[in-house]
Amino acid sequence: MDEYKAKAPQAKASPADMEQQRQAQRRVAWLNREFERLSGRRKKAYILTFGCQQNEADSERIAGMCEQMGYEMTNDPQSPDLVVVNTCAIREHAEKKALSQIGGFKHLKENDPGVMIAVCGCMVAQEHRAEQIKHSYPYVDLVFSTGSIHLFPSLLLEKIEHGKRQFRTEPDAYGLAEGMPVRRESTYKAWVSIMYGCNNFCTYCIVPYVRGRERSRKMEEVVREVEELVRDGYRDITLLGQNVNSYGQRDGFGYDFADLVEQIDRIGGDFRLRFMTSHPKDASDKLIDVMARSSHVCHQFHLPLQSGSDRILRAMNRHYDWARYEHVVNYLRQKMPDVTLSTDIIVGFPGETEEDFEQTLRALEQVRYDLVFSFIYSPRRGTPAAKMEEQIPPDVQGARFRRLLEVQNAISLAANEAQVGQTLRVLCEGPSHSDPDVYSGRTEGNKLVLISGRGPEEGTFGTVRITRADPYSLFGEWEG
Ligand code: SAH
Ligand code: SF4
Ligand code: F3S
Repeated sequence: MDEYKAKAPQAKASPADMEQQRQAQRRVAWLNREFERLSGRRKKAYILTFGCQQNEADSERIAGMCEQMGYEMTNDPQSPDLVVVNTCAIREHAEKKALSQIGGFKHLKENDPGVMIAVCGCMVAQEHRAEQIKHSYPYVDLVFSTGSIHLFPSLLLEKIEHGKRQFRTEPDAYGLAEGMPVRRESTYKAWVSIMYGCNNFCTYCIVPYVRGRERSRKMEEVVREVEELVRDGYRDITLLGQNVNSYGQRDGFGYDFADLVEQIDRIGGDFRLRFMTSHPKDASDKLIDVMARSSHVCHQFHLPLQSGSDRILRAMNRHYDWARYEHVVNYLRQKMPDVTLSTDIIVGFPGETEEDFEQTLRALEQVRYDLVFSFIYSPRRGTPAAKMEEQIPPDVQGARFRRLLEVQNAISLAANEAQVGQTLRVLCEGPSHSDPDVYSGRTEGNKLVLISGRGPEEGTFGTVRITRADPYSLFGEWEG
């Protein structure tokens, strides 16, 4: 893996590469039309997605390609003709879940050898996992990494026409591919990837190894995509990247993330703009100034702290200390007193003492986040932290994790209760799954509100008076 670190990816997949993919798409589409003509049945594709928003965005591109290849998308895992499992490798649990699901698709192939099974995403960019699939999951037809997504049509065609299993697992050998079709899950919420990969090499994290080096899309490509989304009626747009605020740094564009946000904010229309994830070392005052004076950017910031201990932050290779982090939080609150703050915390990193952990708890008490995503440290093969001495025993990790939840639940509850009595604008998400008389909506801070009674149409804005809160959601009544 260290050897890999030195390699620089190509800047961009060439237009000729992309044309080759479109040709493969057309050829598969033709084969699928022939199948339909002979059998009277259209082929169906099923995509199962694990992991973060990046993977969700990738799955929307895979679905776009499936549609171009003539597949009908289905949510039913029972009888698809094409299965795509988009995997995550962030923690051991994520990999176990993906592997067990892949195992569950074996019977499809046994019932019908014509079924195609593809496995993609972060897990398979690790050599040992690609090997494992090669040897222990012989019914998997295609394996491709996040950086090879655009190759999906030609890999599928190759397997269909020549029967040979296809493996393309380099993290970023092809650089950045523009112009892939997208089939979005929602008609009003959209992800827009602005950069791929990560250069930070936090010592616990697998992402830089599996998603490769950081590479950013050009501002004009991103602005054009957001303009189209707004024109198509999208109301909630999230810019995505592992470290959005280092956007453009490596590519030497001469503009940065704050400039990109400012440019997008100039687009007319009624829409909300969000972004994730920001790294504290790159969260500039300039970006916060742009947010504070913008008309579309939500006053919401996800700023992963990971640990409140400077010693542990150093061991994690995070490149900031508590004082730097505290400055960002203070500046955010100074410029946007109503800002909603959330974070990620890792509990039980190697060498974490009781005192280190208590510093994390103190940080939570001090910042008083609205929402905290906490994770028990999971060793990832090939990362420096996995080789560190002083791995923390699971019972100590578990006890600290529970203490943290207890502390944070009280804080989240208080933060949500502070909104009771307020009148807030929400983006309506339609009736909730469990009760058609309860509608759900999202505040500017991205908090979930459950609202009694019929509300405005899904994907439009409404006004809600908040009447009650729990640690995870708000409850309210429609005002208009
Ligand atoms: N790029 C983002 C998020 C990456 S993954 C960032 O830098 O913040 C999301 C979260 O998963 C991380 O913020 C971290 O809290 C957690 N995480 C990453 N690797 C982990 C590991 N090995 N064990 C436990 N949690 C981990
Ligand atoms: Fe992982 Fe750190 Fe990169 Fe986030 S910034 S993806 S935690 S290496
Ligand atoms: Fe998982 Fe890859 Fe996202 S490892 S968290 S799907 S970047």
